[in-house]
Amino acid sequence: MYIAGQEEIDALARVIRSGALFRYGIGRECETFEARYAKYLGVKHFALSASGSNALAAAMAAVGLGPGDEVLIPAHTYMATATSVLAVGAIPVIVDIDESITIDPKAVEAAIGPRTRGVVPVHMWGAACHMDRIMDIAKRRNLIVIEDACQGVGGAYHGRKFGSIGHIGAFSFNYYKNMTSGEGGGVAVNDDNLAKRARCAIDPCHFYWNGREDEKPFAGNGARASELMGAMLNVQLDRLDGMVAAMRAERQAILRGTASLSNLGLRPAPAHSPDDDCATQVMYTLPSAELAAGFVKVFPSVIAGKTGRHNYTEWDQILSGEGAAHTAMNPYTMPANAACRRSYSKDMCSASLEILNRTIMVATHPQHGDDQIQDMIHNIGVAARVALGGQPLDGMDLRKAQPVDKQKFDMKEDA
Ligand SMILES: Cc1ncc(COP(=O)(O)O)c(C=O)c1O
Repeated sequence: MYIAGQEEIDALARVIRSGALFRYGIGRECETFEARYAKYLGVKHFALSASGSNALAAAMAAVGLGPGDEVLIPAHTYMATATSVLAVGAIPVIVDIDESITIDPKAVEAAIGPRTRGVVPVHMWGAACHMDRIMDIAKRRNLIVIEDACQGVGGAYHGRKFGSIGHIGAFSFNYYKNMTSGEGGGVAVNDDNLAKRARCAIDPCHFYWNGREDEKPFAGNGARASELMGAMLNVQLDRLDGMVAAMRAERQAILRGTASLSNLGLRPAPAHSPDDDCATQVMYTLPSAELAAGFVKVFPSVIAGKTGRHNYTEWDQILSGEGAAHTAMNPYTMPANAACRRSYSKDMCSASLEILNRTIMVATHPQHGDDQIQDMIHNIGVAARVALGGQPLDGMDLRKAQPVDKQKFDMKEDA
């Protein structure tokens, strides 16, 4: 959560006092948010759900993926990207990322096999995937693009909002996201039929609640959003652009203030849409994992390769082929998936691990003040001179720094 205050408290209190806690027939908050956010994204439909994981699974169901299909996903993403593919009976195939720490279009093209039907670009840590290249590959090779914009709320790729570029997009509004209602998510889509299917996956009784009994594509499972969620998101949406603008300004200031350190090896990570992405992190690509480890010892920051659940090596159930609660529903053992690539190993994307272990992330925040930003620039300079330039730490003036949120980044070990 970045910012939540009196406006959110007032909105939630209003809904509780009114007793209108259910979205259909009683409340208006979810419906209002869906219309506003669809307009914000520039898509025809937005359907709220209980979580980003539900939204991704609903998107997979909406586009008709299922047993017999492979879906390409990046080696660096939250595990829900993989589990949403399994949720519809399809098989996630893990492919490399590049130095942008998003899915590598070259790896996508190389990984396409006879069963591949979809690809999931994930705008990881708010950084843009190379959407032009992904969409070009998808068009040429007949793939469905399910855009995972769960970490990309408020960001865009060259003017087009994340989640609006692929055939369908999914968002998360959990506690850590740029806009939050504690938990929550939703599906963005232009196609009317896909929207209908996504809504059905989120709530199979949606059509009954709305009094239209003719529209029942299939029996989805429920993941309906509450009016409390809608109320909070309506307030959060008003804050979003200002927050993202502040984070972009902070990142620009930090990159400007640390530009001269590139001769020591502190290079900004390549970005596909630096003016439009979320700028929730300042990312640097260092020459080696050893230098990155030395850097974070001096300046508390995050090594992308040390963010636990965000790397495929930590997805235990996926790696061991435990794809469902019931054996008969396990996509890894379903006869329909016999021709899909179903085995993984911890070193299958070693090129990604090598990049991730030398990628440093410094978190921005919309409420960082100028002095704090100057202190960060100063400390990054100290860390670069010590860890990369070989200068002694003794006598260096390190300023007070914010601790890293270890739970957010799943840092189980000190890097
Ligand atoms: C890239 C990505 N995809 C999917 C999800 C799943 O969202 P949720 O936690 O709302 O289920 C997350 C959440 O952290 C995420 O970061």
